[in-house]
Amino acid sequence: MPRRILMVCLGNICRSPLAHGVMSDLLPEDIVDSAGTSSYHIGSPPDPRSVSIAKQHNIDITNQSARLFTASHFADFDHIYVMDQQNYRDVISLAQTQNDINKVELLCEAAGLGKLAVPDPYYGGVDGFKDVFDLVKNACLRIKNKWN
Ligand code: 4NP
Repeated sequence: MPRRILMVCLGNICRSPLAHGVMSDLLPEDIVDSAGTSSYHIGSPPDPRSVSIAKQHNIDITNQSARLFTASHFADFDHIYVMDQQNYRDVISLAQTQNDINKVELLCEAAGLGKLAVPDPYYGGVDGFKDVFDLVKNACLRIKNKWN
């Protein structure tokens, strides 16, 4: 059975599209998707800075489109990886069962990197997106290795 993995951030245009693209690339047999806790950018493509850093690593994320995280996603996914603590609180606020809550983890914490956030790069420069890519790649690799 394929794993069902959902990557979640605030806008679903910067961090979670990268995590989605990286994890799909690492685990092509699994179902990987992403969503955001805010409705600001619903229907938008990923931020051009995320598209660019992904492309530099031969990952195409241009087919993604931002969508809102909803309570129905708890049934659709086994692992819900959030980028920061605010995402965690926002996702957990929609949980209805302990089983729902158990599916939600900080991406970095699930990777054994401690209670570390993937920092929001939206208001910064391109360097922030490079840092996000490197951190997300490391975390996704570590999670993949944990499962192998
Ligand atoms: P993301 O980044 O949560 O990584 O997609 C952001 C995107 C948009 C906004 C904030 C963060 N915004 O405030 O519009």
